[in-house]
Amino acid sequence: MDRLDFRLLAGEMDPDSFASLASRAEKVRDDLIEGRCAGSDYLGWIRLPRTARADLDAIRECAERLRGEVEDLVVVGIGGSYLGSRALLEAFAEPGRRGGMRIGNGPEIHFAGEHLGGARLAGLLRRLEDRRFAVNVISKSGTTLEPSVAFRLLRGELVARFGAEADRLIVATTDPERGALRGMAEDRGWTSFAIPPDVGGRFSVLSPVGLLPLAVAGLDVGALLEGAGKELERFLSKDSPEENPAMNYAMHRQHFYGKDLAVEVLSTFEPELFLLGDWWAQLFGESEGKEGKGIFPAAARFTTDLHSLGQYLQDGRRQLFETFLRVDQAADALVVPESDDEGDGLGELAGRQIHQLNRAAEEGTIRAHSGSGMPVMAITIPEITPEALGGLVGFFEGACAISALMMGLNPFDQPGVEAYKREMKRLLEVR
Ligand code: PA5
Repeated sequence: MDRLDFRLLAGEMDPDSFASLASRAEKVRDDLIEGRCAGSDYLGWIRLPRTARADLDAIRECAERLRGEVEDLVVVGIGGSYLGSRALLEAFAEPGRRGGMRIGNGPEIHFAGEHLGGARLAGLLRRLEDRRFAVNVISKSGTTLEPSVAFRLLRGELVARFGAEADRLIVATTDPERGALRGMAEDRGWTSFAIPPDVGGRFSVLSPVGLLPLAVAGLDVGALLEGAGKELERFLSKDSPEENPAMNYAMHRQHFYGKDLAVEVLSTFEPELFLLGDWWAQLFGESEGKEGKGIFPAAARFTTDLHSLGQYLQDGRRQLFETFLRVDQAADALVVPESDDEGDGLGELAGRQIHQLNRAAEEGTIRAHSGSGMPVMAITIPEITPEALGGLVGFFEGACAISALMMGLNPFDQPGVEAYKREMKRLLEVR
């Protein structure tokens, strides 16, 4: 296969339901294209594969400088300001010696500001003690507490160790004009990148939010944009919803939601894609979980979670539907070795590729879950490459917008997240 595929593997959608959902889906997509939908001030994500190219030279230049100057990069951000880059990095990187992730000989990439765990932060500071590191602080508002606190700690460390040179080691990604972080970046002369005002946090991975850290890590961010552009074009095309994977996925979600199945489990057997499930959960959870509505997005990591959540998925309350995120081509050909000691009972598997076992587990799970009455869908990408994952990002973003709009929601705000931030700040008596 050479491009993303979506299909229903088990469960039903009769032709009348399909036709009625298709006409609703086409209507909301037309509204989206015409900018007539709820949240129409936040449609910049559709154009990002094109508009972000304007920043590519500056991003690559900054990334090259940092790659030449530092051993580690700490990416500071939370929610949409971190989940996408972390998920994409995980797909291509290996664990580094200092607890971060790295691609080849590139700098080790660490994340901070995505929690308020003091001991974890202290551990990161200790691991960076004798390292030359840089910080990419990312916050659209520039005022979110978790990244602000982590950034203050890391900035203090940089200044204490490198003095005036610290300013060279800080890159800020934030609103082009507003917010505390923009003000500091201008005052201190930090290299900075703008998050387009018409792009919301969870739709921002293809902006400098995701592109800069990924470029520093050594990922081909041009290919990422290329793949996303192709899939978004397909989403916007006038193809019938049946031939349009993002529309088709959105319609099927609505179909099952209409049958009172209000939890979607996104299951993958590829460890490289485990964290993509977290990004997906944020994208759909924050876009749809409002006004007492929404499908709860739950990401499952198989086969690991087959030994925990698997029991519930197989036999628990029938309130779920499941979407398998699959990869057509396996990346390596590691085999189960022959052994003189057959005490482990694996004799019959010797010589078989590990990915064949994984495929059998995947196929067996699809059969078992669908056999229990679970509706099952599959999204398959050709392979794990920057282009294919860019395509997956574009696919999910398009589907998410359509799905939330079909529920009559504004996909691009997050009043619930803002409410918690307000309450926390009130308790802390800060502005
Ligand atoms: O999707 C969103 O908008 C949120 O999850 C934000 O990304 C998150 O709250 C972080 O906000 P900020 O980038 O302003 O620090």
